[in-house]
Amino acid sequence: MKFLSTLVAATLVAPFMAAADPTGCDGNEEVLKFSVVTSLKGHPKGEAAMTYAAAINEQLNGSYCIEVYGNSELYDDAEGFVALEQGDLHFAAPSLAKFGDYTQKMDLFNLPFLFDGPLHALEFLQSDEVEQLSDEVTNAGFPVLSYWSNGMRQFSATVPMRRPGDAEGLTFRVSSSSPITAAVLDTMGITPKKLSFSKVYDALASGEVQGQENTWANIATKEFYRVQAAVTESNHTYLGYAMITSQRFLDSLDPETRAVFVDTAKLVAHERNRFAFELNQQQRQNILDDDGIILRLTPTEMQEWRDAFAPILERFKPSIGAELVETAVRINAEADPFN
Ligand code: LMR
Repeated sequence: MKFLSTLVAATLVAPFMAAADPTGCDGNEEVLKFSVVTSLKGHPKGEAAMTYAAAINEQLNGSYCIEVYGNSELYDDAEGFVALEQGDLHFAAPSLAKFGDYTQKMDLFNLPFLFDGPLHALEFLQSDEVEQLSDEVTNAGFPVLSYWSNGMRQFSATVPMRRPGDAEGLTFRVSSSSPITAAVLDTMGITPKKLSFSKVYDALASGEVQGQENTWANIATKEFYRVQAAVTESNHTYLGYAMITSQRFLDSLDPETRAVFVDTAKLVAHERNRFAFELNQQQRQNILDDDGIILRLTPTEMQEWRDAFAPILERFKPSIGAELVETAVRINAEADPFN
């Protein structure tokens, strides 16, 4: 119990983990790097990474010290995978959408309207089937220590979007080469353009792309809404993260120390994931408070989006694995996330 309250307290004082902060690591400690592409403060992933670092730094004080770097300051996600492999980076938490090079099955998370909300997705993430998925990523050299939550993605564009065809002819930034995301946009008559997260604001501002999809936390902290006509509350896909390390690093640790890194990742997931939804709702409110425009869809309009995307699930079932998709559908239907 003391440890959990330490985690929460650590989050409240978390700014001390900002990379440039000199109060960080002592000279005798082995410094480990944790890179994220998002903001640190006010963001589910940034806050979780800082909580993890604070908890590790307390438990392994004098031996190991994690520095957290946010806002793609060190690496974008693609570079992060390489840096982990090369031993230059020790922890990262890329979006589940970005594991396509390691397992096609992760593309499941890009299926539109598969999950009713982030808590439904989190129930699925605790299933045995996802444990097997973790093994595939681990076998690719990136042990999955836990799953961290962000929230549901929303569409935004230079035109207000109430219906799937409203942004036809435009180009939208996408975060990965997912064929499912491409199919979703194709249904809307939109051309996808893959860009790393750090490039999105400038690409929207310059008109290189005219729209995007992301969570409230990402749209607010990076101010995408300021260069868009409106954000549509579409809640169409779940954005979560696999918090990963490198096999090389884990293998270098004695069993007791390794257990601290592994167990703390799970405790942080347990502690922080509960707040991810709330944080996203706060960021949604921040957009409104800054005069951003949010379009809420009526049930009839929402049904139109669902109907437009429905064939995509059936089309991609074989490539992801029918059993895995059906498990996600079943868990979503059965989930009672508020109990
Ligand atoms: C994106 O590229 O849009 C997201 O993966 C960023 C993030 O890490 O939430």
